Amino acid sequence: MREDLLLPFPLVFFSFFHLGQASFTPGSWLNLGMQGYQVLENGVEVKAIGMQPVCTRIPGLSRGQARLCQLYQDHMSHVGRGARTGISECQHQFQYRRWNCSTVHDSSVFGPLLQIASPEAAFAHAIAASGVVHAVSRACRDGELSTCTCSRARRPMDLNTDWIWGGCGDNIEYGYKFAQEFVDVREKEKKHDKGSHEQGRVLMNLHNNEAGRRAVVKKTKVTCKCHGVSGSCSLITCWQQLASFREIGDYLKDKYDGATKVKVNRRGKLQVADPTFSIPTAYDLVYMDDPPDYCHKNDTIGAFGTEGRGCNRTSLGTDGCDILCCGRGYNTRQIYLEERCKCKFHWCCYVECKTCRRQVSIHTCK
Ligand SMILES: *[C@@H]1O[C@H](CO)[C@@H](O)[C@H](O)[C@H]1NC(C)=O
Ligand SMILES: *[C@@H]1O[C@H](CO)[C@@H](O)[C@H](O)[C@H]1NC(C)=O
Ligand SMILES: *[C@@H]1O[C@H](CO)[C@@H](O)[C@H](O)[C@H]1NC(C)=O
Repeated sequence: MREDLLLPFPLVFFSFFHLGQASFTPGSWLNLGMQGYQVLENGVEVKAIGMQPVCTRIPGLSRGQARLCQLYQDHMSHVGRGARTGISECQHQFQYRRWNCSTVHDSSVFGPLLQIASPEAAFAHAIAASGVVHAVSRACRDGELSTCTCSRARRPMDLNTDWIWGGCGDNIEYGYKFAQEFVDVREKEKKHDKGSHEQGRVLMNLHNNEAGRRAVVKKTKVTCKCHGVSGSCSLITCWQQLASFREIGDYLKDKYDGATKVKVNRRGKLQVADPTFSIPTAYDLVYMDDPPDYCHKNDTIGAFGTEGRGCNRTSLGTDGCDILCCGRGYNTRQIYLEERCKCKFHWCCYVECKTCRRQVSIHTCK
């Protein structure tokens, strides 16, 4: 069947939590990244790691996640850091888009907006999952976790035979597996009817989480270093190294631009909504609902609208005033920028500069 999504391995659904509607966890685990891992208890700052009751009290964690938090307490600060990295990369990638990945001040992190199964929700899930892989893989390498160390990945076949494999590499195998358990568990706890939109959403989230994790694996590189007397390079050691998170963000942004619309069928599987489109791979992003109207403020869906957003008058892209302001037009304001200029070097040794004022126009959406 052409239409089924081909996942590289079967997704097994454990039904160890049959909690009915009560199992719905408000909030998002990304909240870990917003509050750090310090929690306030009776006005006293308590480390969220290391104590039984605290894991169950972190808003946003599902039951399964709270259990994993309990089992892997030393991982939680890294999960939080991964979430934070993911969110700020999302905000960087979308800074000139109608949806700008902004967060709200509650445990849902993104507000109700991402309950819509949109391409933006797909991106948010993927970047968050990749943030956890990235942070945990690096933490293993840095010796910060009790259950993992440097990568034990096999030597790449094509590595020059004179070079030594075995520097301390980022443990992406471990980061991937941990992120898979921790991020996916909340989806597997959800109860739904086969073929329902809710079930489709679970499959969509799992698919995009996987795409995010794979983005990290895909971008991982072999890095080598010279050793030897005064840079003679008589010895070369190599290890596997994570890409910068920016590279992963750029890659996932491309995947977002090419995201595939899917729907859930009666057999409870995702299929491509338009059969003329090709089947997404496990590296691609999928969504079920077209994006909502991000142009206008709408509290029902949690859209901020684009009023007041800075735009570029001459650009024809998504940052241009035409597109970003949704045709409403823009206001222009002059501001003066003060900058250092006409710098002179004086012997010896200081630099003297003047302050210049430069006028620039700022455009903001009406
Ligand atoms: C996103 O845009 C809204 C206005 O529409 C603004 O209030 C918010 O600060 C922006 N968020 C980010 C992360 O730039
Ligand atoms: C908010 O969005 C919903 C769903 O798209 C729509 O039905 C409703 O009319 C919108 N409300 C406003 C005030 O625009
Ligand atoms: C606005 O867009 C134009 C064309 O894309 C670009 O050359 C220019 O650098 C942009 N200006 C700013 C302030 O980003």
